[in-house]
Amino acid sequence: MSIVIKTADEIAKMRIAGKLAAEVLEMIAPYVQVGISTDELDTICHDYIVNIQQAIPAPLNYRGFPKSICTSINHQICHGIPSEKKLKSGDIVNVDITVIKDGYHGDTSKMFCVGNVSTHAQRLVDVTREALFLGIEEIKPGAHFGDIGHAIQKFAESNRYSVVQEFCGHGIGKKFHEEPHVMHFGKPGEGARIEPGMIFTIEPMLNLGKRHMKILNDGWTAVTKDRSLSAQWEHTILATENGYEILTLRSEEQ
Ligand code: MF3
Ligand code: CO
Ligand code: CO
Repeated sequence: MSIVIKTADEIAKMRIAGKLAAEVLEMIAPYVQVGISTDELDTICHDYIVNIQQAIPAPLNYRGFPKSICTSINHQICHGIPSEKKLKSGDIVNVDITVIKDGYHGDTSKMFCVGNVSTHAQRLVDVTREALFLGIEEIKPGAHFGDIGHAIQKFAESNRYSVVQEFCGHGIGKKFHEEPHVMHFGKPGEGARIEPGMIFTIEPMLNLGKRHMKILNDGWTAVTKDRSLSAQWEHTILATENGYEILTLRSEEQ
């Protein structure tokens, strides 16, 4: 098994899938407010993906996942299952969207700050987004996957946060999760060389406390062992001849 280099035709389809995933995050933003349940967010996203985008929500029934999106609140790291629980002021919540269009996947997530968020939570959210972009900026001719992980880990730890190690970014295309594992920690020069035509996600998870996690009894939700806050941001990225193209960029980021 090796890392797939996408053809021009596949890249065109991945651009469309990535744009759709980004548009779901833009669509849901005004709904992420105090008092809404994550089940309601799931239903709105599901209906938009299926009826408006005529696409498929990839998480639904993926290895038994019961919902169409992941919503991870506060000390939840990732893979939170939408429920009747309502958002309250001060919550930080990650909404992770993956759509399949014309057989290809687009995968992206962002943090939302609900109501009035503490300065320490806001700082974790901001630093985690910056860590994602520092990782992305490592993608240039001759770079290795380890360069991405190193940049993220160095920045996270210099801000006294820890990096979750059990979950990684991943190659993406016809399959939701392909080779390689894109680690959010590591050393420069480690891992495979990044070649033009590779498409993969970067999705760092940073914790306010220790890096260790556990999975809840629902079999999915990853939480910090010490119950400290956790944040995550994710983009799907194409490596190009000169650098990179972010396939899931939102208008607010352009
Ligand atoms: N979107 C997640 C990722 O970034 C994967 C979610 S798998 C699910 O890789 F089953 F929980 F949806
Ligand atoms: Co992903
Ligand atoms: Co995702």
